[in-house]
Amino acid sequence: MKTAALTAFLFIMTSQFSKKSEAWSARFSEPVSDLVKRYTASVFFDKRMAVFDIQGSLAHAEMLTAQNIITAQDYADIQRGMVQIQEEIESGQFEWLLDLEDVHLNIEKRLTELVGDAGKRLHTGRSRNDQVATDIRLYLRAAIDNIVVLLTALRSALLDLAEKNADTILPGFTHMQVAQPITFGHHILAYVEMFSRDTERMQDCRKRVNRLPLGAAALAGTTFPIDRERVAKTLDFDEVCSNSLDAVSDRDFAIEFCAAAALVMTHISRMSEELVIWMSPRVGFIDIADRFCTGSSIMPQKKNPDVPELARGKTGRVNGHLIALLTLMKGQPLAYNKDNQEDKEPLFDTADTVIDTLRIFADMAGGISVKPEAMRAAALQGYATATDLADYLVKKGLPFRDAHEAVALAVRHCVEQGCDLSDMSLEQLQAFSTLVGADVFEVLTLEGSVAARNHIGGTAPQQVRLAITRARAKLN
Ligand code: ARG
Repeated sequence: MKTAALTAFLFIMTSQFSKKSEAWSARFSEPVSDLVKRYTASVFFDKRMAVFDIQGSLAHAEMLTAQNIITAQDYADIQRGMVQIQEEIESGQFEWLLDLEDVHLNIEKRLTELVGDAGKRLHTGRSRNDQVATDIRLYLRAAIDNIVVLLTALRSALLDLAEKNADTILPGFTHMQVAQPITFGHHILAYVEMFSRDTERMQDCRKRVNRLPLGAAALAGTTFPIDRERVAKTLDFDEVCSNSLDAVSDRDFAIEFCAAAALVMTHISRMSEELVIWMSPRVGFIDIADRFCTGSSIMPQKKNPDVPELARGKTGRVNGHLIALLTLMKGQPLAYNKDNQEDKEPLFDTADTVIDTLRIFADMAGGISVKPEAMRAAALQGYATATDLADYLVKKGLPFRDAHEAVALAVRHCVEQGCDLSDMSLEQLQAFSTLVGADVFEVLTLEGSVAARNHIGGTAPQQVRLAITRARAKLN
């Protein structure tokens, strides 16, 4: 039963697509209902794989020709038809038909209109099941390559920021409480490490994406004398999927990608959180260039860090897509099930979100200006060099636990007096340990504190510079 509202809704949802009602095949006595047609169609979103669909079809046709399954004339006709289809799609002339369900049937039908029987022969030894699995892998491979380039650009931009701030001191935090002085360059390098592992994860995932399902046909393989290695070579796949049932049904490569993408976004989100905090006037460690910020429609004074906030928010949807794909897969028996059509929207949106976010962050990193005075002022509060004083006493022979206790008493005294450790006189400090000598004031300075952590992975400016050199070498 159709209500007027439902009819109107269906019209709106389908009006951009031409209609032509026909039964599925001679096996059927009636066409599917409009509602079912709309429900089962994927052409709304899978048409963006058209270029990969054509690429896969041409490789398949070339192999069919080489194996004498279709003629050279058929292949020439298919090539000619595909050139025209590609042009029609690019110019927006291509008429996408909802009735033809998905990108695969739309292209095949148009091909047959253009070149006749050769178009009908294209699907020999192939199914939409191995076809769609191939298209997704081609799409995802290109997306990963794009993401790797963007991650590299972001790392490079962050390395420039780190280099400019190899000596800039700010407080490092644990539990959001001032812990020890660190250099801003060192802090930024922590993100470079995260994005470098993200790059490795994407490159590793690509290996499992880059395998060819074509040849699996519907699920069991085909009776035609196909050459799968040849198709793999044409399409630049590293190898062929070695089990036909697995090839058409599993989407673990897409899940793996979404997991890697969720980690990229998680790292982006952590960095975003810090950018937002640092830009708050209460902290004032950085400013972000105006072109990445927006104002308020009511409060004229506002300049809001919308880009990092939105990126933090978008992390939620990418995490959601990972869960969507895991859930999509968990109950499916072998082999292909229509459930798998639901893999595309989460996957596309994941890739789109990561690509847009990385592009904007690589750009925004160059628009971060640092306020070293504010960072320094913050580092001078909160007894950030207390550990340095304890280490000093240890070097003079006191066991660490005793040194820890002596400095704790000194800090407590300073809290009560409202002063810093370095404000105390030598005599005052000696009241907490007789081991304190005149050389103590060097270790109480911020510069002395960071410079002393001079080992691989430490915050000393010298180490930051060495780490930048190593990280730059890894960019290529
Ligand atoms: N549009 C389908 C998908 O995305 C293509 C494969 C359909 N195969 C089938 N036997 N219905 O998964």
